Amino acid sequence: MKKLTIPLVDLKREYAFLKKGIGRQIKDCLASQHWILGEKVTQFEKELSKYLKSKYIIGLNSGTDAIILSLRAQAMKLKGKEYFDKEDEIITTPFTFIATAEAIIRSGATVVFVDIDPETFNINPQCIREAINKNTVGILPVHLFGLACDMENIVEIAKENDLFIVEDVAQAFGAGYVSEDRGQKIEDRKKLGTIGNCGAFSFFPSKNLGSYGDAGAISTDDRKVAELIVTLRNHGQTHQYDANYIGYNSRLDSIQAAILLAKLKYVDKFNNLRIKIAQKYHDGLKNIKNIYLPSAIPSTRPSARLRTSFGRCHMPSSTPQHVYNLYTIKVAANIRDGMLKFLNSAGIQARSYYPLPLHKMEAFKTAKISGNLINTEEASRGVLSLPVNPFLKNREIDYIIENIRVLAKK
Ligand SMILES: Cc1ncc(COP(=O)(O)O)c(C=O)c1O
Repeated sequence: MKKLTIPLVDLKREYAFLKKGIGRQIKDCLASQHWILGEKVTQFEKELSKYLKSKYIIGLNSGTDAIILSLRAQAMKLKGKEYFDKEDEIITTPFTFIATAEAIIRSGATVVFVDIDPETFNINPQCIREAINKNTVGILPVHLFGLACDMENIVEIAKENDLFIVEDVAQAFGAGYVSEDRGQKIEDRKKLGTIGNCGAFSFFPSKNLGSYGDAGAISTDDRKVAELIVTLRNHGQTHQYDANYIGYNSRLDSIQAAILLAKLKYVDKFNNLRIKIAQKYHDGLKNIKNIYLPSAIPSTRPSARLRTSFGRCHMPSSTPQHVYNLYTIKVAANIRDGMLKFLNSAGIQARSYYPLPLHKMEAFKTAKISGNLINTEEASRGVLSLPVNPFLKNREIDYIIENIRVLAKK
């Protein structure tokens, strides 16, 4: 096999494809000399609101701020206080990026970690149920690697217990659900980020919709919450030079909004390409001993989803869609690091997301743990993510599959 070099994320090919549109957008910015908020931000917020079918979109400077501001707005609305109190508990997954739990602590609340489903890597609704007590105020599900959480059960649990939901959609822009019963098309159903009280989006360059720097947004249908977030993103000012709250400098830059406007038109096309690449991986890697493939390929029926213990949760009537921000496989813990080394030396930039779960980090020593986190710990020892960017060529996908097959035979 001739050696190839395949980066995990390849934005150069995407740029070559989008060059004209992005060039036009940047020229507009240069001509207007508006760099903070302004016309491009308003236009992007409108376009995103149309795409997501969400009433309000607030552009921000990162996905991390999108979670923090969503939570602070919930505290302000529900408690009439700027921050949650320490006894207020928010339930989330420890198998995610640091920002998710960091945001809970920044909002004043206590983090409660519960285990994941071993097949989907997403938070297990039954574990959420078991973690709820009189101090629980909300749930923060993360649609990890691009796969939608089981929102049907999560919404039901939230309703029964009067809890808010803030969705972390950083890795799953554009995903939704496919209904098996009613044959609805994906676009007829709610997109992720519009199911909970707020959806927090990241437009970090490697995300499915990525800017050329840091950027993020919140979607919500709640006018009061939207107004609070608009105030918080601009230093808590209700009028110029008069602040009601302790806020942030979290405005979305005009130039990032302009780039996002150019890219938003193609996001579904790119997501479909990611799904096709995932299908090729599935076909090429199935039936290899000790390699578990990510579940929920939309075109596979019946899907391999959520077969683990449902407890008091029911089997959802729709299939969570996967838009593959990362194609993450799980291998036996004792071979994972060797496999990473082998692939890296073959020029394939595979990585492990995430090798250390959040509950093991010093920063989260104040977090509570509900039940055990066995599936999280097993996942962090066995996961391995493969390149899945939309411009990956067939021969590159074949090269990756072939290398994994060679290694599996050893
Ligand atoms: C799951 C998750 N949540 C939150 C974030 C934070 O987003 P940002 O980097 O835009 O602040 C990320 C970014 O990597 C993420 O992957």
